[in-house]
Amino acid sequence: MNVLVVLGHPEPKSFNAALAATAKRVFEAQGHTVRISDLYAQDFKSEVTRGDFKNQRDPEMLNIIREQGNAWKTGGFADEIKREIDHIAWADLVIVQCPIWWFGLPAIVKGWMDRVFVPGFTYGRGKWYETGGLAGKRAMMSVTFDAKASAYTARGRYGDSDIMLWPIHTSLRFVGFDVLRPFIADQVSGSADARAKSLAAFEARLKAIGSETPMPFHTLDEFDEDDMLKPGVKGRTAGQRD
Ligand SMILES: Cc1cc2nc3c(=O)[nH]c(=O)nc-3n(C[C@H](O)[C@H](O)[C@H](O)COP(=O)(O)O)c2cc1C
Repeated sequence: MNVLVVLGHPEPKSFNAALAATAKRVFEAQGHTVRISDLYAQDFKSEVTRGDFKNQRDPEMLNIIREQGNAWKTGGFADEIKREIDHIAWADLVIVQCPIWWFGLPAIVKGWMDRVFVPGFTYGRGKWYETGGLAGKRAMMSVTFDAKASAYTARGRYGDSDIMLWPIHTSLRFVGFDVLRPFIADQVSGSADARAKSLAAFEARLKAIGSETPMPFHTLDEFDEDDMLKPGVKGRTAGQRD
């Protein structure tokens, strides 16, 4: 298996970096090949700009989706985007490793999605969800936060973590990934003991990841022409509920 770990943390001595290193060690010990794409270390830009495209199709007006589609067809992406596209194309499993910042992704990781999940490669012309360009690959969010996990439940202070992660999970599914349950390390700034327990839990999870069932998502044929679940189909995700 080819495993890509996308790391979104500025500090090589951080807990997030330790989780990424754990993934590398565990998968390599199992005979898999691992690449870590350390976004900060390569100074990856979070913003979509004209500089994403080597030859802008329409220099007068930046239509991002059209320019991305054109760059995909013509090989016209800036080098850092091309490199990330190649990593994803190579990977069977993508793990996105980052802290939760303001109940969402650090800008650098959001920017990685904005700039790399491009039409042609990941979606478009009938390719999305189970027919998406990345169908057959698996993805997992591995996130950290300081609060207790109980704070991120339906009656907890910050609400259900499945709702917090829904925009990210639905994006991963949109482009075709089978999305695995997130790995969540809580109380990260607490004791060394809590961090050691999280690392051990991560290691155990990764060792058995091959037999995991992905999270449920609705299939294309469950929606009607108004993009609504058809009558009788019960919502079964964080985003679609009855
Ligand atoms: C800008 C910023 C925003 C943060 N927002 C949240 C948040 O919304 N929820 C939360 O539980 N923790 C939040 N935190 C805490 C981080 O999740 C925590 O510091 C991180 O997971 C620790 O991992 P590290 O040791 O690898 O940096 C935030 C931290 C920073 C710096």
